[in-house]
Parts: sequence; structure tokens; C-alpha cells
Amino acid sequence: MALIGETMQVTISSGNNINGTLVLPLFEGEETLPEIVEGIPQTLKSQINRVLADGDFKAKANATMTLMGTEGGKAMLVGLGKEAKADVHAYREAGATVIASCKKVHGNELTVVFHGADMDCMTSFAEGMMLRDYSYDLYKKKDKDEEETNLSARINCDEGDATALSAAIDRAASIVSGVHLSRDLGNCPPNDMYPMAFAEKAELWAKQYDNVKVEIIDYEAAKRHGMGGLVAVGMGSSRKPCMVIFTLNGDLKGQHPMLVGKGITFDTGGISLKPGANMDEMKYDMGGSATVFGTMEALASSGYPGKVVAITCMAENMPAANAQRPGDVITTLSGKTIEVLNTDAEGRLVLSDGLWKAGTDYDPEYIVDFATLTGACVVALGHEATGLWSNDDDFRTRIHEAGNDVGELAWPMPLLPAFEKEMTDSKIADTRNLGAGRWGGANTAAAFLKQFVPNRGEGEDAEQITWAHMDIAGTYWGAKTNKMVGYGATGIHVRTMVRLITGE
Ligand code: BES
Ligand code: ZN
Ligand code: ZN
Repeated sequence: MALIGETMQVTISSGNNINGTLVLPLFEGEETLPEIVEGIPQTLKSQINRVLADGDFKAKANATMTLMGTEGGKAMLVGLGKEAKADVHAYREAGATVIASCKKVHGNELTVVFHGADMDCMTSFAEGMMLRDYSYDLYKKKDKDEEETNLSARINCDEGDATALSAAIDRAASIVSGVHLSRDLGNCPPNDMYPMAFAEKAELWAKQYDNVKVEIIDYEAAKRHGMGGLVAVGMGSSRKPCMVIFTLNGDLKGQHPMLVGKGITFDTGGISLKPGANMDEMKYDMGGSATVFGTMEALASSGYPGKVVAITCMAENMPAANAQRPGDVITTLSGKTIEVLNTDAEGRLVLSDGLWKAGTDYDPEYIVDFATLTGACVVALGHEATGLWSNDDDFRTRIHEAGNDVGELAWPMPLLPAFEKEMTDSKIADTRNLGAGRWGGANTAAAFLKQFVPNRGEGEDAEQITWAHMDIAGTYWGAKTNKMVGYGATGIHVRTMVRLITGE
């Protein structure tokens, strides 16, 4: 699979040797290097102590300073802010800042020397380095003699911590490989990332793991099964739609988490054509499916032993002679009909089939869907937080907290009966894919999706399956304050989901 590079190597050493550039995380207010910091050549140490004593480096969060010119080697100082506030998030950001600040002069090898950092903080710093060490240059011509420059880092730690820290960093690297996969898929140009290309990448990926299966429901099968939402969105493209189903540890019995992704490999709006400005960004409209695929990679490669199933709904939304029209009424897998009032509200159409299949063909403990669903969500929350809706308050809180734990914000949004009413009052169909006005567009979209989450049980005992919807329209790309990424797809919520599912 044309995936980009490897996750940077971070190794552990219980010695004091410094290879390459010394990376020194410091707390605000430190005026000399603490005694416990060992192994730093005297000349470099004096230079560090001088800038600290003179107040030239104050170690504010995410500040860096490079020192060089002595025979003691080079160093990058990085600020953690005040020690009392230096939590895992501060360490993660500092790690990412180091990589973002690395220039040619720092070379390819780094040695990180901590003082006063516990195991979680050291792991988080390594995670930040690995997350930020990513670029998407698959489509750039490389000069033959241009050397591959792979950055690597070593962390010096106490002998007693080495084994546990090494295991924690290996696990973090596995999870980061899932984030990078999500970014690779999102950044891939839409001429190469179309529904069946995504499916083929998934199939190829699954071959690495004995406990993973990928099933593809192609266009013909989707039509046969009655997936009217997926078919309606994808039929106008020469790249036909498909559904891809990922199963991890499928032999296990019992309820399991279920993920569903919106996978519009390019969203022109269809006949309700979008304006031209920035339309290229609509290649990221498969970010929900990329999140789901990336999460499966993170779980599989870190050896998660539980069962998880994921469904990605892949289609390209094109205007064409055989595209759907505003005014069409379609019948979805659930049997419910939708009056399509705007072909640009296509994500909810493909998800209607994905959610229904997730709840009826499987036995999910819960369903979480991911979608770059609405511009309205970006209006509400900017690029700072994902919109989060759920039919279960406790579950919504669990996702919110899992996001907070890993530094990926998902903000609670309301699932109100009034919005459901708005989306179910079509004169001629069961539902409509457009709200009555433009207000609350992210909420009406969520309320629409809720119509396609099946119940568990029947009759009086019927209860809707626990479900959450995450609108990542503002957070999947363009999030300039996200320090974990330089540009392009962020790969957000792979880590949130790993936290939610594994509890670690
Ligand atoms: N993919 C877009 C949502 C989107 C827009 C994501 C901008 C990120 C940035 C989605 O399919 C869409 O076009 N939604 C419409 C819905 C409307 C027609 C009800 C929107 O948000 O304008
Ligand atoms: Zn759209
Ligand atoms: Zn879309």
C-alpha cells in the first residue's frame, strides 16, 4: 500500500550517552540545570546554565532555543511551562514542538533527557514527537541522490523504568500508525482516492493481520441489498460507491463497539453544486471513513484483543446525467424513505444505510459515527472541537472525557425533539435531508441520522441502540492550532476511540 514512511523510531536507553542533538525539556523558572541531569558535556552544560541564569530562555510552554558552537555538541531546549501545570498534554505538545522546530542543523538523531517526568509524561512527549513527524510527499518527485532523512530519537531514562517505558512507547507508536494512516487516506488526492480504491487499500491492509477481515459490498451488491442512500449519492460518478466492513477479532461472541464512517471521496455537492472556491478541500470528505480505518489499524497493530466492527460508506458525489436530483425520493436500507431536497446533504444519505446495517446485522454495544457532515458545525465550533451528539448522556460524557484524556476535544451538542420533527415532516416521504431553514444545521443533521439508528429488542422493550455522532467537519483538516500536525488531514479521534474502546 502506498502509505507514507514509517512512524519515527523512538528508543529507550538506560545509559547517559547523548547521540546527536540533546533535547532538554525544562520547566519555567529553572535557573540552572538540576544536578540529576547527567551525561551532558561540561561546555554544553555551561552554555545551558548561562542562558538559564541570564533569563534568555524562560521555558514558557512550547518555546524552543537551539544552542550550538561548543565542542559539547548541540542542544534544543524546549519549554514545558510551569511545573505544577506540566501534565501529559503539555509534554505531548512539547514533543510535537521539538519536531516542528527541527532543522537540518539538528541532524537526524535526537537524545531526550528528562528530569521530573513520570512514565505517562515521557510517553506523551514521545507520542507528540511521533505524531508531528509526518509529511505527505508521495506525489513529489525525488532527486535520485536525495537521501531519505528519517529522524530518530532516544530517550534516556532510569534503568528501572526502561522496560515499562519501552512497552508504553511501542504501544503509542502503534496508535500513531493509525493516526498516520488516517492522514494518508485523507491527504490522498481524489483522483487516486475513490470508493473502490479505499476498499482495495483496506483489503491489502487486512492481509497483515490474522485477526482482521475486510468485506466489500460493491455497487451491484449495494443495489441488490437496497442501500438506496449509498446508491443515490454514488450513482452519478463513474467511480461507483461501495461499503467496506472491517472486523477485528470476529470470532469472539458478544456485544462489541461499532464504528461507522462517512466516506465521500469527493463532494462536489452533486446537482446542488458547491461554489468553486476551496472545493479541492472536499477531498477530505472521506475523513470519517479515514478515522474509522485508522482506528482499526491502531487497535490491530497494538494487539487489542476485543471484537470491533467498522463500516465505511464510500461514494463520490458528482453532478451527472445519471446523478440524483433535488426532489427525488429514495428508499434506504431501513425501508424508510428520504425526500432529497439538496444533493449536497449527501453524507447523511450514505450514513443512513451504514447506521442501519450496523444496528441490524451486528450486535453492537454502541455505535459511533464519524462524518465531515456540516459546514454549520464549523460555524458553531470552529476548528477547535468536534461536535458530539448522543442519544445517551452518559455515553456522550464518556466520549467527551476520552477526547479530553488524549487532547482531542469533542464538544457536547443537543439532540432535541424539535430538530427531529423538522427532519421528519416531509409532505411526501418519511424524512427530508434538509432542515426547514438554515439555522441549527449541525443539529438537524444529527437529528436526521438518529432516524436511522435501529432499536434493540421489540415491542414495549424496544430501546434505541446507544449511539453517538461526531461531526469532524472542522477538526479533520484546517485545524491550525492542532500542534500535532503541520498541514492537511489531522487524523483526529483515532486516539479518542482507542481510549474509549480499550480504556487505556
Ligand atoms: N461535506 C459537506 C460539509 C462540509 C462543508 C464539511 C464545509 C467541511 C466544510 C457536506 O456534505 C455538505 O455539503 N453539507 C451541507 C449541508 C446543507 C446542504 C444542509 C452544508 O453544510 O452546507
Ligand atoms: Zn455535501
Ligand atoms: Zn459532504
